[in-house]
Amino acid sequence: MIINPFTYGNPISDAARFVGRERQVEQIFSRLRNVEFESSSIVGERRIGKTSLLYYIADEQVRRAHGLAPDAFIFVYADLALLDATTTRTRLWQYLLRQMLLHLGENDAAFVRAVLREPDALDNFALAEVFDHLDAQNKHVVLLLDEFENVTRNENFTPDFFYGLRSLAIHHRLALITSSRRELIELTHSNEIRSSPFFNIFANINVRLLNADDARALLENALGETAVRFAPTEIENVLRVAGTHPFFLQTACHFLFQAHAENLSAAARDAFWREKFRAEALPHLGEYWRHCDEREKSVLAALALLHTQDTRFATAPLRDFVTRSERVLAQLDKRALVVAHGDAFAPFNELFRNFILDVLDDNGFVQALESNIHYPITNIQSFGLSPRELEVLELVATGLTDAEVARKLVLSPRTVSTHLQSIYNKLGVNSRAAATRVAVEKGLAAREPGAQGKM
Ligand SMILES: Nc1ncnc2c1ncn2[C@@H]1O[C@H](COP(=O)(O)OP(=O)(O)O)[C@@H](O)[C@H]1O
Ligand SMILES: [Mg+2]
Repeated sequence: MIINPFTYGNPISDAARFVGRERQVEQIFSRLRNVEFESSSIVGERRIGKTSLLYYIADEQVRRAHGLAPDAFIFVYADLALLDATTTRTRLWQYLLRQMLLHLGENDAAFVRAVLREPDALDNFALAEVFDHLDAQNKHVVLLLDEFENVTRNENFTPDFFYGLRSLAIHHRLALITSSRRELIELTHSNEIRSSPFFNIFANINVRLLNADDARALLENALGETAVRFAPTEIENVLRVAGTHPFFLQTACHFLFQAHAENLSAAARDAFWREKFRAEALPHLGEYWRHCDEREKSVLAALALLHTQDTRFATAPLRDFVTRSERVLAQLDKRALVVAHGDAFAPFNELFRNFILDVLDDNGFVQALESNIHYPITNIQSFGLSPRELEVLELVATGLTDAEVARKLVLSPRTVSTHLQSIYNKLGVNSRAAATRVAVEKGLAAREPGAQGKM
């Protein structure tokens, strides 16, 4: 039985298998070594490696190597995807304090347990007392808050919660390392929270594509322990089709490794990994696409077309359009959806580029270009739906009820029905069934098996 060293889906939990991110890791630790014991906010798209980075930072050997003595520091990881619409501030603090307990000696633990015994009294003062106590014992607490947007977008977490947390972080030996898909300030449920000074305590740490050296190191590192060696052309193909995105690279390599382990011929290996990779990757690419606003889609479309090397249409207008879209490009770069080749950009891997070209084909776009018909690139539409509305529509299209959508997105059912009304208006429909049909037809949502029955 050969164990496949490439994994995708679960975060990397073994520090020895974690590659790259040196600069980000050093930035985070240098803020923790600082006398002010400063917080960081990790920002990156889904599957770019945020949870893996949090796990890596929490590893005892890694912490020691970066100058943090293990006994003076308590690292507590919390997966905030567990939050739902019923989770309260008190419930979250209970959870975090109980996790902290596991790392405390008997005396300190007794102190925290006493506080936990009276949940009704678990206010900001009680928390300040807990951290006063830990300060006196020279204990530093680092809370690793994964998918923190589940808190900033949850209406149960009012400005008081954020003021309290900020005050604890400023006045005590408490640092926060959050992760989120976008900058936290873009992911709040109210203006009051957006404008609160809470976010000032963080430095943003962006997690993007791996650089080319780290991508190759990922392959070598994983294959090192095995008898399998990928052929040089296989390595080049994988890096082109999957790019240097850790999730897609691991996925492609996983199947290429499997093909080697099954002793397939070179041609059969090639067909095998490409087919498996495509099937695994496409839904994720579709999700990235659906979470693009119209400007992002237009720029991606232009980049995909520019890289087809198709001589049947003029590329100068596309090039102009891209040059004028500097800000959108920067945004796409942050989201790891584009890769820089010299000073030009391309979609981050070949499969994504082909996916975009397929979308354009479905829109009649490429045909129009070929016949020299003027077809504004902004016609690739999301019907003016906001990213939030697209999220709601996507879930509604899978057949979820308002209440279920509300729970998933951590919103009140009333907010969901407001979003739905606005979606109906923008799509010019007046029922869930019609909205779902439009969503699926226009590629705004995928058709889910079983969705039909519930419509
Ligand atoms: N630094 C890394 N080294 C090796 N593989 C990684 C690294 N970061 C991410 N991966 C791969 O990408 C996948 C997604 O990573 P994960 O940390 O779960 O992303 P996120 O939390 O941003 O959604 C993991 O399953 C793993 O295969
Ligand atoms: Mg994660």
